[in-house]
Amino acid sequence: MNAPVNAPVNPPSTPRLKSYRLSADAEGGLAGTAADQPRVDQPLLEQPMVAGAFLRNAWYMAGWAADFSTGRLVHRTMLGEPLVIYRLGDGKLAALEDRCAHRFAPLSMGQLIDGCRLQCPYHGLEFDAAGQCVNNPHGSRKIPEKARVRSYAAREKHNIVWVWMGSAEADETAIPDFSLLDNPPALHTTKLDYIRIQSNYQLILDNLLDLSHTTYLHEGILGNQDTVVSDIRVEQEGNEVLVIREATNATPPGMFAQFWPDHPPLVDKFTRMRWMPPSTMRLMTGITGIGQPCEQGSGYHAIHLLTPENAHSTHYFFTAIRFGVRTEDEAFNRSMQTKVAAMRRFAFEDQDAPVIEAQQRNLNSANRVLQPVLLECDAGPARYQRVLRQLIKAESGG
Ligand code: FES
Ligand SMILES: [Fe+2]
Repeated sequence: MNAPVNAPVNPPSTPRLKSYRLSADAEGGLAGTAADQPRVDQPLLEQPMVAGAFLRNAWYMAGWAADFSTGRLVHRTMLGEPLVIYRLGDGKLAALEDRCAHRFAPLSMGQLIDGCRLQCPYHGLEFDAAGQCVNNPHGSRKIPEKARVRSYAAREKHNIVWVWMGSAEADETAIPDFSLLDNPPALHTTKLDYIRIQSNYQLILDNLLDLSHTTYLHEGILGNQDTVVSDIRVEQEGNEVLVIREATNATPPGMFAQFWPDHPPLVDKFTRMRWMPPSTMRLMTGITGIGQPCEQGSGYHAIHLLTPENAHSTHYFFTAIRFGVRTEDEAFNRSMQTKVAAMRRFAFEDQDAPVIEAQQRNLNSANRVLQPVLLECDAGPARYQRVLRQLIKAESGG
């Protein structure tokens, strides 16, 4: 594998400024943390580690399908825009701007009438799933021409609700492949989970596409000193990037050792992470006998889906499905199910997030453009960043 060349450290003579002004906005309705967002009132330097724009003609996860029962109004800010997402009486999904056309109250605080009309909580305007006002209870009841809100395509696939926020027509064939979640084995699938991380989503993509950090941030559970030295390969299939890390003759890290109680003392540890633009990943990870195929080993398929809340905050959805299960013992497998869910949440929330959020603060406070020094283990992040930037550029006509 070729080592990426270190980037120059000198900033351009005229740093570009990017202005953000975010207000506190507690997300509600779904499981997970709902901490207030930080206020970022100063203009920020545009930093090379994060793209200045989102890819818009793409599907982003709004939540797990089971969270959208009919009539439940879910507020979720995505790509910096407040949305209300809900299921109609006929089971279809709708996504509207969560800002009434009258006095801009959140429609998510209202209610669904007759399974199809979203009534604003403030003065009762009612909107259909296309965002058109269809009932004005006041005065002559005339509906002003501008009484409409933006609507977005929303679809359910792989037990996930997806929203398309671009101006191009929504392309259902572009929904990332998570067919692993269509009929997962219940006993071997962990909780469908969610946390929010106060950072740009690309810092989390960098984290997930360079799993060398498992040795340091997750030592003992997901990585150890034997997994630092790994063979890394990066492959690209269309716009998808596959990052393969393999460590041989390794002592199995704790979680994987538990899956396979009579594992050999030394094993091959593998991670195969697939990035699907703009921000979803499937990882196959585990241990296997030295020189043996991954499929003969034991581990899990890790599902990671990121949705930018805004430039400084990210919705992070995750679950895992075990493979190579070594025993039919239900009590053992039930305990593994609970442990894997708890371990992964701990790893992301208590080990990854504090560092990533601190990284974001360091970027925010920088008074110069920061060019990261690149290491060989950055081959995966470097590749996905290149593809993502190309896609964003192509979308903006650049
Ligand atoms: S703010 Fe919605 S009807 Fe007035
Ligand atoms: Fe991590």
